[in-house]
Amino acid sequence: MLTRTKRVLSDGTRIEDLVDRPNREVSLSVMNDAELYQIEMEKVFGKTWLLLGHDTEIPNSGDYVVRHMGEDAVIVTRASDGQIYVSLNVCPHRGMHVCTAESGNAQVHRCIYHGWAFRADGSFIGAPVERERMHGDLKSKEQLGLKKARVALYGGLIFANWDVDAPSLEESLGDMKFYYDMLFKRTDNGLEVLGPPQRLTIDANWKTAGEQSACDGFHTLTLHRSLLERGIMGGSGGDEVAEFAPGMYGINVGENGNTLRCIPVNTTFTLMLGESMENLSVDERFEKLPPPGIMPSMLPEMKRNMTPEQLHVMSVAPPQVGNLFPNVNILFIYAPLRDGTMGSGLLLHTIVPKGVEKFQWLTWFFAEKDTPDDVKKLMRAAASQAGGTSGMIEQDDSDTWPHMTESARGFMGRQETLKYQAILGENRPDDWPDKAKVYNGFSKDDAQWLWWEQYFALMTN
Ligand code: FES
Ligand SMILES: [Fe+2]
Repeated sequence: MLTRTKRVLSDGTRIEDLVDRPNREVSLSVMNDAELYQIEMEKVFGKTWLLLGHDTEIPNSGDYVVRHMGEDAVIVTRASDGQIYVSLNVCPHRGMHVCTAESGNAQVHRCIYHGWAFRADGSFIGAPVERERMHGDLKSKEQLGLKKARVALYGGLIFANWDVDAPSLEESLGDMKFYYDMLFKRTDNGLEVLGPPQRLTIDANWKTAGEQSACDGFHTLTLHRSLLERGIMGGSGGDEVAEFAPGMYGINVGENGNTLRCIPVNTTFTLMLGESMENLSVDERFEKLPPPGIMPSMLPEMKRNMTPEQLHVMSVAPPQVGNLFPNVNILFIYAPLRDGTMGSGLLLHTIVPKGVEKFQWLTWFFAEKDTPDDVKKLMRAAASQAGGTSGMIEQDDSDTWPHMTESARGFMGRQETLKYQAILGENRPDDWPDKAKVYNGFSKDDAQWLWWEQYFALMTN
């Protein structure tokens, strides 16, 4: 159903007309439109739960990092009460950034311009020369604090949302929480970041990477083919592995624009170990090839933390790649180590818009906290070989994003459409839990279409 909206662009185009639902097409012009971009800042980045980091980045009272919600800089801090706060990094006095560092430790943030000071929780302490009332008398101190966002923690991940009326993070995840738990909540002590995030600026519209993250399995066959042929994405290389690229047959799951791609362990076994998993029990499969990032010694606690249904999914086809709407890319993958043996890499990215034709690609590397230090080192090496500033897989991906953005600048290019017409349809295997929308088979466009449905639901609301 088309949703009526009051939003009309200045050339008369209604936002709802940018999507053709019966034909599953989106106007390419959405990838390069200054007016639409401003609306996205309000309707998407002003109303959704945005990933800002992980609580292991700021373990101590006063620790902070500066991150972005859309184009707004925010200070993410742990205050003396142990709670995490997210405050707009804009001085209520005259708009200076209150914090000009990227990270650090401070109980007080003092604006360098005229010296107004704020506690870690964002509340206003005062202006210099208190007896002269340098902040005036028109407003109380309570009214002069930094603007605060709602904060939610999930598996240590820090999310924030400006919209007081938005559904809770839990509601936004919906049934997908069942799958995300298998990545973020599987051990007693949880995940830990391996260093500060890498940052890379890419000359492309944020949505080019955003919608690709929603399980575009299709492109692995072609865009990443050279990596497959050389055995860099797993397997022994050669032409014959391309059709498994990587796990073209699998199960995509999604809801509310959040999606994950569950890759059958049998494919992984065949590619990585050269043997079949047929006839192996759940426990035997876990022992032979634990989910990415899980050490054999962690299996007992993983089994305690997961439900039998989750363990079934993890032993048959664990979720490995996907997204969190709107701007998170997930890679919890098996990744070859430098010596060619199998390891794993756990990566999260955010796609932070920096104007219509630019975004920042942030990359966090993770390991389970209880992983031995030498293994953490190997995992970071394997992960950085796959993704981030030196990642070979993402060098392929990031090649396409600027091209699409440039295509959407042209007079004729803007009249082209993005097509999502390879439809599998909801299709759940008998033994698969009834959680979220399930698409079993050769990877098609269904999950990515869920991303666009969520985008247009917000943009036309
Ligand atoms: S702008 Fe911050 S104190 Fe004046
Ligand atoms: Fe890719």
